[in-house]
Amino acid sequence: MRIDKMLSNIGYGSRTEVKKLLKSGAVAVNEKVVKDPKEHVDTKADRVTVQGEDVEYREFIYLMMNKPPGVLSATEDHYQETVIDILEPEDAVFQPFPVGRLDKDTEGLLLLTNDGQLSHQLLSPKKHVPKTYFAAIEGEVTEDDIEAFKAGVTLDDGYVTKPGELAILKQGLTSDIELTITEGKFHQVKRMFEAVGKRVIYLKRISMGSLVLDEELGLGQYRELTDEELRLLKGKE
Ligand code: URA
Repeated sequence: MRIDKMLSNIGYGSRTEVKKLLKSGAVAVNEKVVKDPKEHVDTKADRVTVQGEDVEYREFIYLMMNKPPGVLSATEDHYQETVIDILEPEDAVFQPFPVGRLDKDTEGLLLLTNDGQLSHQLLSPKKHVPKTYFAAIEGEVTEDDIEAFKAGVTLDDGYVTKPGELAILKQGLTSDIELTITEGKFHQVKRMFEAVGKRVIYLKRISMGSLVLDEELGLGQYRELTDEELRLLKGKE
């Protein structure tokens, strides 16, 4: 890969800015100063330094975000803030995108990556990757709802959902629940509760496959996946 492309890809600025950096003599490949933007580097084998600091090249980025409400799960929007807008520039430079969508008012686990293959694996309907949500429900969620979700409920458009696993955490005029589903239809959790005459008043995703939301992350915060999280996510699903 060309040195200017490599440095630009990992956040050292535009190709023009990188060209200036190279010209200044700040960049070395295997201890030899490189000024030519066309110089090729082997991103795995060559040692690249900028101002004496080692530069790590990587193609993919994997971020776990605790999505805040009020922000769109999209890469860009003319009017509204997106999850990409809240990334630091050094992460946004990798051009990650959200794996699946959470509604604007939904919070919680959102994976952002530029790894199309992993994204496809996790979203493919054939893979049945389980997603678990915590929700507060207006109305009393009952054993009948557990049975109905287990059997599959009919959504407003006539679609019958695959079995969902519903657990009641708090029962009352409003109820707290956890629901695990293996599909990702539009507004699925909200529509499943509508199908049994109830309304979701708060929704948060807490897991997707083996990936569990890190509760240390405040709303709008994110971090890279650990090697172990990534290994499990790639290996199992
Ligand atoms: N189901 C919903 O209704 N909304 C979400 O954001 C995710 C699942």
